[in-house]
Amino acid sequence: MDYGSARNSPFRNLLKIFCLLPTVAYAQLLHPGDAKYEEQAVRGVRHRSVQLACGDVVAPMVVFWSFTKLGSLVPRAVAISNGIESKVEKASAALGQVSLRNGTLEVSDLQTAAQGRFMCQAMFEEDGEIKVGYFYIELVVLVPVPKPFLQMTDSTPVEGAAVTMTCAVKEGTPPIEYSWHRHTNREGAVAVAEAAGGLLNLTAANRTHMGWYACTAHNEVNSQTSDRMYLDVIYGPDEPVINVEPFAINQNGFSANEQEEVILTCLAPSNPPSHYVWFYNSSQIYSGQKYVIAKISRTQTGTYTCLAQNALLNTRTQTTIILTVYYLPEGKPSCTPVPAANFRDIALQCSWPGGFPPARLRWVRAGREADAAASYSNATRIQRGVDVQNGSSYTCLASHPALREDAVCTTTVWVPVGNPTCSAMATKQNEFLMLSCDWAGGLPRVTLWWRDWRNRVLGGLKPSSNIYVMQSNSTLGGKEFTCIAAHPLQARATECLVRLDVPKLAAERTEVLLFEGGEVQLACALQGPHLGSEVFWFNNKHQVIRPDAARYRLQQGDAWFNLTIRDTEWMRDSGTYHCAAVNAVGNATVPIRLRVKKYPTPPNVTISKLMYTRQRTEVQLEWVTQGSGNLTGFVVQRQEAKKSSLGPSRSAARAWETVASDIEPDIRDHRVGGLDPAVVYAFRILAVNHRTTGHPSEGKTPADPPFNAYPAVIGAAVAGMVVAAVASLLAFQYIVRNRDNNPRLHDLLFGMAGPEAHEHISTPEDAETAAGVAEAETGGELGGTSPPVGEASAECHPEPPTSTQEVPPAPDLAADDPPVNVTITVTATP
Ligand SMILES: *[C@@H]1O[C@H](CO)[C@@H](O)[C@H](O)[C@H]1NC(C)=O
Ligand SMILES: *[C@@H]1O[C@H](CO)[C@@H](O)[C@H](O)[C@H]1NC(C)=O
Ligand SMILES: *[C@@H]1O[C@H](CO)[C@@H](O)[C@H](O)[C@H]1NC(C)=O
Ligand SMILES: *[C@@H]1O[C@H](CO)[C@@H](O)[C@H](O)[C@H]1NC(C)=O
Ligand SMILES: *[C@@H]1O[C@H](CO)[C@@H](O)[C@H](O)[C@H]1NC(C)=O
Ligand SMILES: *[C@@H]1O[C@H](CO)[C@@H](O)[C@H](O)[C@H]1NC(C)=O
Ligand SMILES: *[C@@H]1O[C@H](CO)[C@@H](O)[C@H](O)[C@H]1NC(C)=O
Ligand SMILES: *[C@@H]1O[C@H](CO)[C@@H](O)[C@H](O)[C@H]1NC(C)=O
Ligand SMILES: *[C@@H]1O[C@H](CO)[C@@H](O)[C@H](O)[C@H]1NC(C)=O
Ligand SMILES: *[C@@H]1O[C@H](CO)[C@@H](O)[C@H](O)[C@H]1NC(C)=O
Ligand SMILES: *[C@@H]1O[C@H](CO)[C@@H](O)[C@H](O)[C@H]1NC(C)=O
Repeated sequence: MDYGSARNSPFRNLLKIFCLLPTVAYAQLLHPGDAKYEEQAVRGVRHRSVQLACGDVVAPMVVFWSFTKLGSLVPRAVAISNGIESKVEKASAALGQVSLRNGTLEVSDLQTAAQGRFMCQAMFEEDGEIKVGYFYIELVVLVPVPKPFLQMTDSTPVEGAAVTMTCAVKEGTPPIEYSWHRHTNREGAVAVAEAAGGLLNLTAANRTHMGWYACTAHNEVNSQTSDRMYLDVIYGPDEPVINVEPFAINQNGFSANEQEEVILTCLAPSNPPSHYVWFYNSSQIYSGQKYVIAKISRTQTGTYTCLAQNALLNTRTQTTIILTVYYLPEGKPSCTPVPAANFRDIALQCSWPGGFPPARLRWVRAGREADAAASYSNATRIQRGVDVQNGSSYTCLASHPALREDAVCTTTVWVPVGNPTCSAMATKQNEFLMLSCDWAGGLPRVTLWWRDWRNRVLGGLKPSSNIYVMQSNSTLGGKEFTCIAAHPLQARATECLVRLDVPKLAAERTEVLLFEGGEVQLACALQGPHLGSEVFWFNNKHQVIRPDAARYRLQQGDAWFNLTIRDTEWMRDSGTYHCAAVNAVGNATVPIRLRVKKYPTPPNVTISKLMYTRQRTEVQLEWVTQGSGNLTGFVVQRQEAKKSSLGPSRSAARAWETVASDIEPDIRDHRVGGLDPAVVYAFRILAVNHRTTGHPSEGKTPADPPFNAYPAVIGAAVAGMVVAAVASLLAFQYIVRNRDNNPRLHDLLFGMAGPEAHEHISTPEDAETAAGVAEAETGGELGGTSPPVGEASAECHPEPPTSTQEVPPAPDLAADDPPVNVTITVTATP
């Protein structure tokens, strides 16, 4: 500072005076009792104000302030006052805004240049004396610290890297001290220990160092804090930690129950935060921190990997867990008692297969815990049959991680009352035999098996019902089969028995005798068990009698089988009949001899009288019986014995023809009419006992009546021939016209009638004498009534011949043909 520049100021003279002051002071030194001398140190702060008092002088008469720069020896005037007015040297503006009042120098807006030595020289009045005082003030100008400036070598270091932070102030009066703070949301503000002065040297920054940093500088004047700065440490991801909810672990890792919602959460600390990716069995399934499986299924068992990535560092870490999904076995546990140890024991079997892990099963008995150890999926408990009461209950408990409460199944062991039932049956064709044995009920069910007569087991063991089928064989007849029933609750096995019986037949009668014409019933019955036998009847010719056979009638009941033979005939029906029964193991027959007897031959008959009546169309016959024998009637027969000269010989002329058959046994005469006067007849008579005809009497021709009636007889004969010829013609015409309608009749007359007629002709006239042959020829006509010949001839109906039964009745002629009206008047001459 150049005080010389104040040379021209108005205070120049004054200053000259003051320059004398040291001289004054010097004078004062000579009189030490009259002067004051003080030294003092004052601290001021830059830009603030400071007051420098001039000792304890209150009202100096003259005061003079000077300033000596530090390190300089030359004092410079600052301000001067004469007690009334004061003057401040212009150059002192370098010290601040200086003002002087009552001797006190006040410097505001203190400048650093004001640091140095101030001297105040004052003259004052004390006790009436003017005294001089010298006061020295050492002024120190202090500088406050400004806001520090914080710097980081790297504000986003990777963990482990060194970071240096510096805190700097431009100025400030030393000593300056520094303090460091880190602010985090979690911790708030904490002092940083690692700091050393304005330097924070982190040799390996880690995540704990993250936060807002600020430094504070302070000296004796003040303290200032820097702006805060964030230290972002980049790190991670750390190895992820997987959390599974709901939490359940097993020896392999985590477990979950099927159907549950499972949440997998992955946490891998990282800055910037991790990006997460999930893998199931090495295939990516999800991207995100939290993987939720809404309803987990057993197929989702496996490994789950969480991969965490730090996108900034491009680093990744991963962790894998094993998640096992537990699931229940299907359905419910089942409890079954089964026989064991040859039906001595009961094995209680509890089973619940499947599931993961398998269900843990154990048997308990009616509430109290059994000592039986638990096992998985299957649990068997053996109980001695004799120790088990009928109706005992056992319970099996099943536990599983997926079950909150144990599953239960219960079984009650019991045996049915009674015995097995046995039966044998044959199939329809007797091809197979079925042995069936039944005994329902029980738990376990009763076991049944079949044993044959040699004690060999047939087929297998079966519960409740055992049907054994075998090939039928006659060697099995009479053999016994046993069905054995066993149950653990039964001390001894029970049995039932069947025998395969060969049918047994019994006939009501084995010899049956009857007269022909009657009806007979042969009865046969099955006896005892017969294994579905079928019964047949065989006739005397060893033919099976069918139910629809004409003359037979078959009837059957539960056990009896009756054969009725109707309308028996001698010879044909006699013989041995058989009642036969067949079943799968054999057969049986009963022979029944049937003898159809003829009635005894009636007595011989002889004609005692045979005579024409007058017309020669009628004969009167009388006879007598010879010898013993029962009879039921008589038959009269005639034969055309000799032809008249009027006509050719006719084919049926030689056959005996029955003209009366129902003559009561006590009658001995008969009148035969309808004779052809032109024909000479022979007559004979036979006695009949029921169906047996006796020997015919000798044939006789009637004798003429006592008078001559030939002309009349001949006339009648001629007329009769005409009628016969017309009748034949009409019949002829009818048949020819209706050939198509009546082919049979046509054939009979035009085709077949020929040979028949021829045959008749060749038959010797009187060959048949034996009763049997005669019977055969007359057939069923015996006993039938033939109209008298004469009467038949008199009628002129265009009727077909009635000799054969098979001929159907003639249809109404009017339907097809114009009616043929033939009127013939026969006049018999008396
Ligand atoms: C100081 O001076 C002022 C005027 O500036 C005056 O009023 C005052 O009385 C003085 N004080 C003393 C103690 O002398
Ligand atoms: C920080 O500390 C390390 C080791 O202590 C040292 O090498 C390094 O020079 C220090 N840095 C500063 C700026 O002091
Ligand atoms: C971080 O560093 C401090 C010391 O600088 C140390 O005490 C702490 O254990 C470290 N933390 C980690 C997680 O490394
Ligand atoms: C996943 O892996 C587990 C264990 O290796 C396996 O049991 C499961 O079947 C696998 N699942 C699929 C879908 O491959
Ligand atoms: C359980 O029993 C059943 C039949 O009874 C059998 O097939 C299965 O192998 C058994 N399981 C176990 C684990 O013993
Ligand atoms: C065993 O008990 C059951 C009922 O539990 C009953 O029906 C059966 O008749 C009993 N058996 C015997 C042999 O008493
Ligand atoms: C019947 O049984 C016998 C002996 O057991 C056997 O030799 C025969 O072949 C069997 N016959 C049939 C048709 O099975
Ligand atoms: C068949 O014969 C038996 C034994 O003689 C008899 O009891 C039964 O009534 C007869 N049946 C008929 C339908 O006649
Ligand atoms: C009846 O049994 C005998 C042997 O006893 C046998 O020869 C015959 O063929 C059997 N008849 C029928 C129809 O089975
Ligand atoms: C009945 O007649 C036959 C032959 O015509 C004869 O053989 C038989 O001895 C006679 N019987 C009597 C009892 O005369
Ligand atoms: C004739 O029949 C009666 C009963 O009808 C019988 O008693 C008698 O013995 C029979 N006479 C002869 C000879 O057969």
